[in-house]
Amino acid sequence: MATHTTSTPQTDALLGVYKKPPMEFVRGAGVHLYDADGKSYLDFVAGIAVNALGYGDAGVDAAMREAMATGILHTSNLYRTSPGEQLADKLVARTFADRVFYSNSGAEANEGAFKIARRWGRSMGGTAKHEIVSLRGAFHGRLMGTLAATDRPSYRAPFRPLAGGISIMERDLDELAVKLSSETVAAVIAEPIQGEGGVRVLDTAFLQGLRALTQERNIALILDEIQCGYGRTGTFMAHEHWGITPDILTVAKPMAAGLPMGAVLTTKAIAEPMQPGDHGTTFGGGPFVAAVGNHVFDRLSDPALLAHVTEQGKFISARLHGIAEQSSKVRAVRGMGFMWGVDVVDPAKDIIGRCMEAGMLVCSAGEHTLRLLPPLVMTRDELERGLQILELAIG
Ligand SMILES: Cc1ncc(COP(=O)(O)O)c(C=O)c1O
Repeated sequence: MATHTTSTPQTDALLGVYKKPPMEFVRGAGVHLYDADGKSYLDFVAGIAVNALGYGDAGVDAAMREAMATGILHTSNLYRTSPGEQLADKLVARTFADRVFYSNSGAEANEGAFKIARRWGRSMGGTAKHEIVSLRGAFHGRLMGTLAATDRPSYRAPFRPLAGGISIMERDLDELAVKLSSETVAAVIAEPIQGEGGVRVLDTAFLQGLRALTQERNIALILDEIQCGYGRTGTFMAHEHWGITPDILTVAKPMAAGLPMGAVLTTKAIAEPMQPGDHGTTFGGGPFVAAVGNHVFDRLSDPALLAHVTEQGKFISARLHGIAEQSSKVRAVRGMGFMWGVDVVDPAKDIIGRCMEAGMLVCSAGEHTLRLLPPLVMTRDELERGLQILELAIG
């Protein structure tokens, strides 16, 4: 395998919307990334919950080679190819859903979900039933529709006016009950665990209450499991923990092991009004990404992998709560499975920098919240090593 000895100079040709540290990654293996100087980094970010199988997974490699051997990377959605059809059948068999629409990203999946919900709403209640309600602390993407459903003032302010017919409400069942009594509401969107908003696990009574309210008022419940779904919490979909079923579900990040892929899952009844021409995508669900998607589905829905996430998730929980008890620098610990947030006294970026120095990658979810999203294949020893580095870096 080629190894570089020095980083190439950083270009200023890229739009400056990301502040990146100076090292350049040139290789990945297992749960480690390697920079151009050969330094290794134990990865607790996993490409922001994307690389659930880590780096260099043999099955991903084989799926890509097999798909490439057909010579077809893309046909468009004007024609049939089998990998996307197979994956849709698997998703339907494994979840509440009867219909699947593929996208190329999480935000695109949510945009698709909004359109499907509106189309259904209009068929139920005429043009009045159109509004999408999102929740305080939510992150659903940065496209024009999803930005209106994302509760980050600094992401929103420079781009006003935002898309209309989308509002943000407190995570309060009494307030929501009033809002949802309006004839205008078509759907509510919620992340069972708010990721970017600080790894906030929605309260059981709240999420179950929201399900009951939406059902009662004939409003679609959209669950955004783009970050928390697909095995990350130890069940295939996160909402399984709450014992509820959504009407629409969006997934993306880990779906195709780093190739761009997302999906909207929904029921036959909600999908019914969508007609040819109502939505579309040139690339979504193409045979190459879907071939990898089939392998990822098989791995991440495997009961043995899910049991590993559950078991080791308990270990992470115990270690993080132990660190919180020992250190006056930790204010709170939240999470499930392989998705954790740690509220810290010091700026998160300082701790992230110290971890990087020590050969570990961790990211943030707010200025004082560290976020841990390790690959789902990480072993107990690797988790322990990372948590030791983290403990020292927190101080
Ligand atoms: C819960 C959630 N929804 C939507 C998105 C947007 O996904 P993407 O960046 O692929 O557009 C993200 C990304 O972090 C997310 O965490």
